[in-house]
Amino acid sequence: MTEPERRRTGRRASDSITGIAFEDAFVALTDGILISDGHGSVLSANPAAFRLLGEDKLLGRPFEDLLLVSGAITVQNPEGQAIRRAWFPREDRMGVLEIVSTPLAGSSPRATIHTVRDVTASAELLRLKEEFLLDVAHELRTPIAVLTASLDLVHQDAISMPREELRTMVGTLRRSALRLEHLVENLLDAGSIEAGTFEVRAAPTSIKAILEDSLLFVRSVFDSKGQQLVTHFGRGTDRVVCDPRRTGQVFANLLGNAGKYGTEGSEITLRTESAAGYVKVTVHNDGPTIPPDELARLFQRFFRSHTVRGEAGGLGLGLTICRAIVQAQGGEIGVDSAPERGTSVHFTLPKARELAQEAGLA
Ligand SMILES: Nc1ncnc2c1ncn2[C@@H]1O[C@H](COP(=O)(O)OP(=O)(O)OP(=O)(O)O)[C@@H](O)[C@H]1O
Ligand SMILES: [Mg+2]
Repeated sequence: MTEPERRRTGRRASDSITGIAFEDAFVALTDGILISDGHGSVLSANPAAFRLLGEDKLLGRPFEDLLLVSGAITVQNPEGQAIRRAWFPREDRMGVLEIVSTPLAGSSPRATIHTVRDVTASAELLRLKEEFLLDVAHELRTPIAVLTASLDLVHQDAISMPREELRTMVGTLRRSALRLEHLVENLLDAGSIEAGTFEVRAAPTSIKAILEDSLLFVRSVFDSKGQQLVTHFGRGTDRVVCDPRRTGQVFANLLGNAGKYGTEGSEITLRTESAAGYVKVTVHNDGPTIPPDELARLFQRFFRSHTVRGEAGGLGLGLTICRAIVQAQGGEIGVDSAPERGTSVHFTLPKARELAQEAGLA
């Protein structure tokens, strides 16, 4: 077979040697392939086409009718080729199919080959990214507006301003700057998780000390909503092996969420207990809970439950970062949420071995 001929037919010279038949490939493909005749009726279809289109009967049916049901829209139409998107019901929610229809040269009347691909995941990611860009702009705008307004006041009146007022103003400036720093850190961390360059440096350390540091970031949230943090430390649960700074981020994110999504004046609890070589930390709050079908997606980048969207700001990155940190330290993280129980997020940290054990004496 000559090179141009091979390119045109798609066949390789070695096909007969390897024994791969085109029919076998057609059956094994995970993308759906259908061929319709010159009148648009389906002539043949592979198993994936039946599965993706959710149909028991395809042969002999007009291809366009299959798409009418799912309300396909044309997204692109380069010369001779129609690229369409269609909605279709999946087990738990609606999915998106991309259908590329290419007329086959040489057949008369013109037959068409259609490939059907499930693009739900990439369509969803694209939608989340678009929302995410708006969310980033929105999240940055608030602290920047506060910074600018406070700086304007300080600029005009710093000399005549009473000391106490100046102190309050500087406090506001600091909180806004911290908020910005936190947002940028989250964005950078999410980027390095995606790039696979995310790192933790574990060392023996104290949970109480880490909690103390992280409270600097979340105290203002609790205070502004009149919330109370209640802690229960189990016996022998203070010494763990983890990256103190990163674990501080986990505490700050989880406590920040509890404050943000918990109701005004409510109690937020933090509990530590021993769990087979690990310390289990649980943060609990009341407030709007997460529907069961959304629970599994909370750790996905940019995902935010519809129960809180519009209620409180956020980028949907906190839990993604928490999971990366906890897992990199050998622990696990999970969420439990139900209207009668409220929301609990728990994670584990490896317990530090006793000194005697570390010295190899035990
Ligand atoms: N304690 C909680 N109570 C109720 N819902 C929660 C709680 N923690 C997380 N969620 C839900 O999980 C989603 C993802 O949380 P995550 O911390 O990843 O993002 P975020 O808080 O929306 O934004 P970010 O943390 O990036 O500022 C939240 O938007 C919210 O819907
Ligand atoms: Mg959060």
